Amino acid sequence: MEEKKVIIKTEKLCKSFSMGGMQQHVIKNMDLEIYKGDFTVIMGASGAGKSTLLYALSGMDKVSLGKVDFCDKDITGFSSDQLAIFRRKHCGFIFQQIHLIEGMSIMDNVLAAGLLTGQNKKMLAKKAKELFLKVGIDEKLWNKYPNQLSGGEAQRVGIVRALINDPDMVFGDEPTGALNSCSSTAVLDVLTDFNRAGQSIVMVTHDMKSARRGNRIIYLKDGNICGQCELGEYISGDKERHEKLRRFLGEMGW
Ligand SMILES: Nc1ncnc2c1ncn2[C@@H]1O[C@H](COP(=O)(O)OP(=O)(O)OP(=O)(O)O)[C@@H](O)[C@H]1O
Ligand SMILES: [Mg+2]
Repeated sequence: MEEKKVIIKTEKLCKSFSMGGMQQHVIKNMDLEIYKGDFTVIMGASGAGKSTLLYALSGMDKVSLGKVDFCDKDITGFSSDQLAIFRRKHCGFIFQQIHLIEGMSIMDNVLAAGLLTGQNKKMLAKKAKELFLKVGIDEKLWNKYPNQLSGGEAQRVGIVRALINDPDMVFGDEPTGALNSCSSTAVLDVLTDFNRAGQSIVMVTHDMKSARRGNRIIYLKDGNICGQCELGEYISGDKERHEKLRRFLGEMGW
């Protein structure tokens, strides 16, 4: 089997917050490797540090101690401006709250994200149209405004926006957390398809249905990695794989 390439590596990663003079250590001395092409899922109880870890891995937030290498670059010493430029080029983000710009059509929302990296507008429009079709948002919606879409449609626009700059990594923080079951399946199907086409994804989730899409599950407890599980490629309806995940989460006390 071909060896996987490490895309993000942390060494003794620590993240603390200062609250009323007290230090709260949220991520504690974490050594972690994330692999290119993987669909990595991060789980754990509320407050375990999942979002904090995601922000540290993606350069959304500065770390307190330790190191994050991303695409062979040590991003730990980057200034806020350097991090912003780095994120635009290398990262795509999908959050529970989608934060599309209300006064702009969904096409313009996506183009605006692409123009930030200095891409040619004509090429961008072509890419946006291809991505929209891939996520099942057809032409009659492209000139609509965000408030004219369903939650599931809006999140699929969020995915197009996350992918418009060909990111090395897509980070998702509970991207299906606010969706009904049907929309959630549609969004997960889109993520699975992009991952099968080679897109690396790190996704935080609370729910098993989303977690099942990952090939590797990392479980956090109090800012430490408590356990990991290799599930292999997602195959819809694979009961054995589902059982393996259920057993693992049971062992983690989920
Ligand atoms: N900006 C901040 N300032 C102070 N404390 C913070 C900050 N961000 C996170 N924390 C604290 O860090 C801890 C972990 O938060 P985090 O948001 O990473 O948890 P989580 O695992 O994502 O939880 P949830 O599943 O509820 O989203 C919490 O106790 C939280 O209060
Ligand atoms: Mg969170």
